[in-house]
Amino acid sequence: MLETVRGWIREARHIAVLTGAGMSAESGVPTFRDAQTGLWSQFNPQELATEAAFRAHPQRVWDWYAHRREMIAGVAPNAGHVALAAFEQRHPGRLTLITQNVDGLHQRAGHTNALALHGNIADDRWLDAPRACCRVDAIEAGRPPRCPVCGNLRRPAVVWFGEHLPTVALEAAEQAARHCELMLVVGTSGEVYPAAGLALTAHQCGARVVIVNPEVTPLDAVAELCLRQPAALCLPLLLA
Ligand code: OAD
Repeated sequence: MLETVRGWIREARHIAVLTGAGMSAESGVPTFRDAQTGLWSQFNPQELATEAAFRAHPQRVWDWYAHRREMIAGVAPNAGHVALAAFEQRHPGRLTLITQNVDGLHQRAGHTNALALHGNIADDRWLDAPRACCRVDAIEAGRPPRCPVCGNLRRPAVVWFGEHLPTVALEAAEQAARHCELMLVVGTSGEVYPAAGLALTAHQCGARVVIVNPEVTPLDAVAELCLRQPAALCLPLLLA
């Protein structure tokens, strides 16, 4: 099966890769929906990953993200991230990397133009539209930091449930899904839309879809092949 997919990779003029939390599992970043180890098996996303939760309990939400930020700063890209970045460098313009991950590990592996659909946990932004008094060079430290004049809060620059994805990145991802000949879907449960819909778009537009995931997912239904392997093992074999 690996050899078949390697052949498809050689042939494809344009490849899209959609990654999810499983991509970073072997770096030590917990996924969201894996039983036992997934973050959403221990925490309620409605209490931590919505704007309403942040407005109700800004310190609790800020601290949870601060803890994840710290944890992520202490891990490193794995062989899968490195293989993708090296492929992009060897074949400029042939691969579009679309990620749901906010951990920045693709970027740290050297990927220069990953489409980060859910933002980046290392960044933050104003909760409410910034006013004239809200200046990043005058932020009052705190959990969360705030504008000392109007009280506007800083929040993690990630996409929470119910929020829109960044338009430019989403449009570029949709375009890649429509025009690719092969889409690799790596380490995502395929539960969260619109990201999961990109695999359906690629399939409907005639691309081969290949899943890299040790577990079954709903997206397997549109896949030509499912490689039941972990990403850090499988991607170097596929992309070498
Ligand atoms: P999930 O936690 O929903 O799914 C992780 C997937 O990775 C599962 O299907 C696992 O089987 C698979 N997996 C685990 N270890 C793996 C490995 N070593 N190699 C390959 N696959 C592995 O994570 P996502 O699909 O990314 O949203 O979740 C989508 C979104 O839901 C996330 O971006 C996040 C979350 O709420 C935001 O943060 C906005």
